[in-house]
Amino acid sequence: MEKLIIRGGRQLKGSIKVGGSKNAALPILIAAILLDGPVRFRNVPRLRDINTTNKLLAILGCPADFTAHEADMTGNAAEADKIGNAGHSDEVLACVGKLTPEAPYDLVKTMRASVLVLGPLLARLGLAKVALPGGCAIGARPVDLHLKALERMGAQFELDSGYIIGRCKKLHGADIDFDFPTVGGTENLLMAASLADGVTTLRNAACEPEVSDLANFLNACGARISGIGTDTLRIEGVSALKGTGYSIMPDRIEAGTFMVAAAITGGDLLLENCPTEALSKVISKLEEMGVGFEQQGRNLRVSAGQRCRSCDVSTRPYPGFPTDMQAQLMALMSVSEGSSTVEENIFENRFMHVPELTRMGADIHLSGSKAVVRGVKGLTGAPVMASDLRASASLVLAGLVAKGETHVQRIYHLDRGYEQIEHKLGGVGADIERARDES
Ligand code: EPZ
Repeated sequence: MEKLIIRGGRQLKGSIKVGGSKNAALPILIAAILLDGPVRFRNVPRLRDINTTNKLLAILGCPADFTAHEADMTGNAAEADKIGNAGHSDEVLACVGKLTPEAPYDLVKTMRASVLVLGPLLARLGLAKVALPGGCAIGARPVDLHLKALERMGAQFELDSGYIIGRCKKLHGADIDFDFPTVGGTENLLMAASLADGVTTLRNAACEPEVSDLANFLNACGARISGIGTDTLRIEGVSALKGTGYSIMPDRIEAGTFMVAAAITGGDLLLENCPTEALSKVISKLEEMGVGFEQQGRNLRVSAGQRCRSCDVSTRPYPGFPTDMQAQLMALMSVSEGSSTVEENIFENRFMHVPELTRMGADIHLSGSKAVVRGVKGLTGAPVMASDLRASASLVLAGLVAKGETHVQRIYHLDRGYEQIEHKLGGVGADIERARDES
């Protein structure tokens, strides 16, 4: 096991390059299953979840081939190899030989997004056997909306020993109205409908930027999707999709996390290749708290002089305030002037960071889906435990401002969604290092 050791109190100054989006890359890499012919992806982030996705695709018959794209940026091949695609940000995927229909439990249990292979496998093979993802730290996270929608397209499912087994002769178009704008459900149906017979309409669809990136990728391969960026998507099925080249969009949650890093340390950061439009709600909240922004071409300058002010936030589907930024904002609220409130409306258990922040001196009270955060003058470093990806990020942010040393343990959670975070933060002045965790 590894941990991060952070000695707080440094103001972050300098520039950080925003990496490729984890939540766009996962469905887009999986969409390679749909294609006749190879596809070259650029700007693929080097993350554990990408590594897991590549392993899953290889098992299904769609192995990744990493081009020798650039010298290993980490300067640590062993490290890069362990957490992702060995220092390359380009990869070519091709479905060589016969596709197989089974996504095994030992992979699916580590990454819920594996359920996204359901739609593509049904579209290509008429058969899919996917281990039920099970819950995770932030809630039960069922897939009922995925299955209900695919059944309307002609799929039939049964549950057998923890696996979802789906079968269909040929998926056909359908009119689908989601009970909830599920991101994964929308992505599964976009991929399934691209090769179905006829037209599919998705209403109350998720319109997160990552969903749009997937739709744009599918159209680049010959799909016929319209309504991109809205909650109503129309997909006219085609007989085949071809390989192409595609660059993954920048990661808005990584960028948002670094915005909070600048704010919480009173620093001044230039975020290179920042997806500003995809972060409008996060930016307006941070402006309300006193953070300054200046767009410079494709880069965004983020600065905070004095202590931030409190604010109130409720997480909502896009374009509302993203649930994936809730934990990070709460770290900033915990040292801001005044009392803030947080309402988590997307997941039923996304306050796992609260007891850990409290151990560092934060003053947070929970009541159901609501949290009241009373700003304190300062936090104190402590050994803390990461529990899920964004909770881990929240603890790193708190460590940047806490007095003394913070040891963030179980950072494999963090490596799922942040590429070499200690290099990126260390490069702008943070006192942060990765170490073995003997405890
Ligand atoms: C995606 O998860 C993201 N993951 C999550 O990011 C993100 O928090 C979430 O969307 C919401 O924006 C990826 O893109 C890989 P949902 P997903 O389906 O698709 C319920 C991160 O930190 N629901 O929109 O699983 C579900 O339980 C991760 O990067 C059903 O009830 O999210 C949850 O409460 C965490 N039935 C809510 O809807 C279903 O069939 C949102 O789920 C599907 C979902």
